[in-house]
Parts: sequence; C-alpha cells; structure tokens
Amino acid sequence: MTPRPNSLAAKDAAFHFHGYTNALKNETEGGFVVTHGKGVFVYDEDGKEYMDGLAGLWCAALGFGEEPRLTEAAVKQMKALPFYHTFTQKTSAVTVELAEKLVNMAPVPMSKAYFCNSGSEANDTVIKVVRYLNNGLGRPQKKKLISRVKAYHGVTVASGSLTGLPAIHKDFDLPMAGVLHTDCPHYYRFGQAGESEEAFATRCAENLEKLILAEGPDTIAAMFAEPVMGAGGVIIPPKTYWEKIQAVLKRYDVLLVADEVICGFGRTGNAWGSITFGMKPDIMTMAKQLSAGFLPIAAIMVNQRVYEGLRDNSAKNISFAHGITYSGHPVSSAVALETLKIYEERKIFDRVRALSPHFLKRLNSFADHPLVGECRGVGLIGAIELVKDKKTRQSFDATLMVGANLVRMAHDHGLIIRPVADSLAFCPPMIATEAEIDSLFDRFAKALEDTQAWLKQGGHLAAAA
Ligand SMILES: Cc1ncc(COP(=O)(O)O)c(C=O)c1O
Repeated sequence: MTPRPNSLAAKDAAFHFHGYTNALKNETEGGFVVTHGKGVFVYDEDGKEYMDGLAGLWCAALGFGEEPRLTEAAVKQMKALPFYHTFTQKTSAVTVELAEKLVNMAPVPMSKAYFCNSGSEANDTVIKVVRYLNNGLGRPQKKKLISRVKAYHGVTVASGSLTGLPAIHKDFDLPMAGVLHTDCPHYYRFGQAGESEEAFATRCAENLEKLILAEGPDTIAAMFAEPVMGAGGVIIPPKTYWEKIQAVLKRYDVLLVADEVICGFGRTGNAWGSITFGMKPDIMTMAKQLSAGFLPIAAIMVNQRVYEGLRDNSAKNISFAHGITYSGHPVSSAVALETLKIYEERKIFDRVRALSPHFLKRLNSFADHPLVGECRGVGLIGAIELVKDKKTRQSFDATLMVGANLVRMAHDHGLIIRPVADSLAFCPPMIATEAEIDSLFDRFAKALEDTQAWLKQGGHLAAAA
C-alpha cells in the first residue's frame, strides 16, 4: 500500500521519522495521520472514525476532543506568563499550586514534587536523585537499581535500562551497568505447575531477596516498579505480591520507587495504583494522565527522608545541579492543575470504579474463546493474551506476529488497540460510556474472528481451535 500522492501520509513518509516504527515500512506506506478527535474517537485524513482503545498511549483520560476548561487554562496562563523556569529558587505561581496539590493527594506522606516533561525523564531524574542521596549519605557503593523483567520505565539511556523488554535494549547497547532485573509477577506465564498464586508471590519475593543478598545489600539503592505493568502486557501482580516484596525491600533499606506513569490518576479505580495494591513508595514518578495527555508534563515526588538527604547534599554542593529548561512549565502546570480539578469535580476516579465491573465483564467474556489464554484487568485497564494451545498455554510462533496482525484487523473495524507480543492491551479514555466499552469489545470480537480465520487458513491453529 503506497500513500496517495500529496496526502499527509505521503508527506509523513517523506519527512517524518517516528518512534516505535519500522522506518522502511513507513517510508513505503506513509503514516496513519490523525487530524482531529472527539470523545473516545479520532479521525484520519479521510474522515474515517476510530475508537482509540488505548487512550492514545495510556494517557488521554478525558478523550481526544476539546476540553474548554483546559483550553481556557492554557490560554489564560499563556497570557499571564507563557514561560518561567524553576532554577535558582525561581518558579511560577501555578507550578507552586500544582506541587502543593500533588503532595496533598499522595497515597503516602510525600514531602516535595519535582517536575519533568516525560515519564522517561522522571525516572532518569529519580536515578540521579538516588545516586545523589546515597553519595550525600556517605554510602557511595549503594547505587544498583532493581527493576523487573517486562517492566517499562521509558526509553532514555537510564530509564531504558530499567525497562525490562529486550527490544528496547537491542542495538542500543543497553542496559547500562548497575541495573538488575528480577522476576515478572505474571502468574499465568511464570507460575509453576501446581504452584498457587500465593506461593508464586512468595517465590518472587524470595528471588528478590536472593538477588539482593548475592549482590550485597549495601550495593542496592532502589527498586523501580509499576503497580500494574503496562507496556509489558498489563500484568497484574498476585494479591500478596506487594506485601511480600515490600517486606524484603524494607529489610535491606532499599527504596521503593512507584512508577505511576500509567496507573496514576485513576486508571486502576483509585487515585494511585499504589493505593489499589497497598504500595508504600519512598519516591513516585507520574506523567500521562497528570494532564490527560493535553500537554507534556511529568513529576516525581519524594518523601521527607529522601528529601532531607537531597537537601543536605545540595547545601554541601551549593546547588542540586540538575534541572531541565521546561521543568514546571507554567502552561503545562496550569493544564495539569485544571485536569486534576476536572477529575475531582466530575468524580472521574469514582466513575472508573463504577464502570470497571462492566469493562471487566466484557473483557472476561472472551475467556472461553479457543484462542484466548488469559483475560486480565483492573479498573479500566486490561489485556487479552492469545495462545496457540489453551491447555498447554503454548504461544504462537513469534514470527507470525499474531497480536500485530489482530491489531491491523481491528484497525479495519475502526478500533485502535496495542499489541504486546500476542497480548492485546485495552486502556480506554476514562470518560468512556458503558455503550462505548461495549462497542470497543464488539469491534475487538470482529478482529478476533478475522484473526481466527486467518490463522485457520494458514494452518496455524491447534486442532481444538
Ligand atoms: C510505566 C511507564 N513509565 C514510564 C514511561 C515513559 O514515559 P514517556 O514515554 O513519557 O517517556 C511509560 C510510557 O509509556 C510508562 O508506561
């Protein structure tokens, strides 16, 4: 398929180099150009409507249409003060307000907020914070970072190293030294025969402890973790997993960094994934739904103990010599602050909780389908994992790219979703109605039917399917 001459897709092929894209394919086919949006829908340059079942990139909590209050907040701030920075004790009024708001809504007592522009930058900043803290505390050997297989914490050199997905490392010479990956808490995939979910959680915690002991507890600084692993395939940990993991971290004075970049601001049915899963982080990172995706903004929050270490070391060094031009950008801050007000006034987190049973019912209704191995979800985030053999849980040959093919078929049915290998991720805007959730899964059902037919035609199905 070559793009129509003079179309935006053709221009995209000629001039634009995308992230997470096969550049050769884009050069020949052109990009999928979105021109406008409304509610949970986006429209391509020919006016075709698509439901975006992933809220863009897990961020468009309020959908893709104009939200007049956010437009007004941005315009008002642009008129009053379009730019100011946060270096050398300076800041803008609205950034102060946002910091106060975030600290006050934290799931556990937090002391201070620091602003960034992306989730990757926020996690990178935390890595520097942890190094700075431990150097200041006179324990320069306590620097190693633990993350998990299948984690997603970003793509920059440091945050990309935390990410536990081989594709993000391959040919980028990552991960960097000092990053260790422990077990992924996916019971369906990594639980052993006859092992209960509880026993699996215990094994994950024991393996974490073994890793810490093997490396030396005085060399391990922090563990980064998403409450629900998003881009690794929407992996929901066993019930007692966090309790057991946190007990190990506490025993060896290892900081817990909750990466709330996807879970934060209502996605799991509470303000924070940390609340849903009983996590008590020392440091948090957040982005995406902080501004409902309307403008780039991210933040980290640190507790009092971490803050005091940073404060004292910054005094010793004259300054915390880390800062980003657009940190706490006033227009992004104003939009984020207004987004949080909208969430509150419209009771968006309650809405997620109320809609979740219907979302999960529709998600789980695919459990008996011969191609479906597992349906998993919480709040308004979920995934369906396809398998070649339901009984043995054998996956399809990766070269078939079954998940990616299903996504292409879903696209033809006007649905945008994300494949993670052969898991299909769902994360609709939090403003979706029950009828829109139904429409999402109805479209998915058609794509699943097409996928089954395509696999059958190619002779790729197990006898039972
Ligand atoms: C949990 C998590 N952390 C960090 C990031 C990186 O955020 P960004 O793409 O804004 O750099 C992402 C992005 O999807 C994410 O899902």
